[in-house]
Amino acid sequence: MTTPIIPVITIDGPSASGKGTVAQLVATQLGFHYLDSGALYRIVAFATQQKNIAWSNALAIADCAKSLNVVFKNEQVLLDNIDISNEIRTEAISKGASEVAVHAPLRAALVDMQHAFCKTPGLVADGRDMGTVIFPHAPVKIFLTATTETRAKRRYQQLLGKNQPANYDSILKDLAERDARDKNRASAPLTMAKDAFLLETDHLSIAEAVEFVITKYKNNKKSA
Ligand code: CDP
Repeated sequence: MTTPIIPVITIDGPSASGKGTVAQLVATQLGFHYLDSGALYRIVAFATQQKNIAWSNALAIADCAKSLNVVFKNEQVLLDNIDISNEIRTEAISKGASEVAVHAPLRAALVDMQHAFCKTPGLVADGRDMGTVIFPHAPVKIFLTATTETRAKRRYQQLLGKNQPANYDSILKDLAERDARDKNRASAPLTMAKDAFLLETDHLSIAEAVEFVITKYKNNKKSA
């Protein structure tokens, strides 16, 4: 029996570019599994904070990640059977996720967990290094982005929608800082894979962005 080739669509890009929403919709439309790799870094930031491990302590963070008891259940993230879905979406944990994500030992500790999401009939994986490091052979890679101002506006609206405190200027500053940290880190920096399609979403609706990705996937399938 031959091993089936599992189609993977990678969607990478900076914070608040809308890639999570687009990736989830593409996965639903195609009936594929979905990997929100950013959630893993958020869970690690949350779990280490609970254990009083500093976000600068690379080895202790990697150890903590190796022993995580995490379950993704529908829309919920359970850590030791406790629902932490909302706790990992705060701005403090967003900052923590970006700080822990610079550590190579942590990134290495999370590789197998991410590969385990790749199951038939297919996977849509969203993050920073999906197309460059985790799934370098993915047949369809998208780099989804928008200007810092557009992304800050989106994050602002998103937080207001969730009744969370939001300040546009501090969000803009925070996004710029996180972009810089993601792009300039030594381990798996945020960069567009050479074979990725660039999708700038400043003037696109979510439906149009989803359509773009699905079309690229269908075209690739036809030519395979
Ligand atoms: O929601 P947002 O786009 O701001 O962030 P996220 O996708 O949930 O990721 C949280 C943080 O994890 C990012 O700021 C990145 O620093 C980091 N990350 C990463 O380094 N590699 C990934 N594959 C995914 C996220």
